Amino acid sequence: MAHPLRFARLGYCRLRCPDLAKSLSFYRDLVGLGVARQDDDSAWLRCSDKPYDLILEAGATAGLSGVGFELENDGELDKGFTHLAALGLAPAWATAEQNAAQQVARSLRFADPVTGLEIDFYAGQAKAGTPYQTPHTKIARLGHVVMNVTDLPAAHDFWVGQLGFAVSDRVEGLAEWLRCWPNPLHHSLALLQHSANTLHHINFMVTDIDDIGGAMNRLKAADVPIVFGPGRHLPSTSIFLYFLDPDGNSMEFSFGMEEFAEQDARAARELEHKAEVMDIWGSRPDPRFGKGSPIVAHHG
Ligand SMILES: [Fe+2]
Repeated sequence: MAHPLRFARLGYCRLRCPDLAKSLSFYRDLVGLGVARQDDDSAWLRCSDKPYDLILEAGATAGLSGVGFELENDGELDKGFTHLAALGLAPAWATAEQNAAQQVARSLRFADPVTGLEIDFYAGQAKAGTPYQTPHTKIARLGHVVMNVTDLPAAHDFWVGQLGFAVSDRVEGLAEWLRCWPNPLHHSLALLQHSANTLHHINFMVTDIDDIGGAMNRLKAADVPIVFGPGRHLPSTSIFLYFLDPDGNSMEFSFGMEEFAEQDARAARELEHKAEVMDIWGSRPDPRFGKGSPIVAHHG
């Protein structure tokens, strides 16, 4: 398999929120993210040693408005620009002011050719000046983002065929779990065939199984809908808990995940489409699970 670029990680997700104050208090107080900075139009939240992991943006309607992937270094970012330009995706370098705001050396932006989602590639991000301190759940990192897409084959062609993401597991015609190669995590991105381009869920990986149980009781006490779990995914072996944010987006806490070596990793498995794949412990999802906000298409 060809890997034209070397990715470091999923860096951040951007969510549009019709009630920014309500979303901010949800993510700060119930999810446990730290507030890196905020103004009238946005809140930059963190759960790692990076300066931010989730950006909430005020907007008239809810939506997934962007994702950022960090490349391994500056040279990879240059290769990325050339590669995207050759694909006809018209990447644009961010201005110095934008890079300063994003706390990165350099970044570029382009639109996902399948969904229109704004995607940032960047390199040279400084670590946050202070450690992330959680009020309760010991979050290790932003784990992954999962998108519902109307054209899974086209999305596969883009992420795997053109960007070199590696397939860890798949369900024929329905789902693909992808590594942002050579990042070892079983998936940093997953794609699900669906009738609309929407957010399925955003994941935060926790450091202790007690975080899953503690979160379940804390969320229940706050009347936050738990929409799936606690359970254990067959594909990634993660123990999971899914709940809804104020806009109906599914969020996930998970503990543990299979990791892959850069070379000679096991081949992708073809999994059956059955409930036991999604939870080997036998819980079943609420109908609201994975029915998140639309993917916001890039304009101009
Ligand atoms: Fe997940």
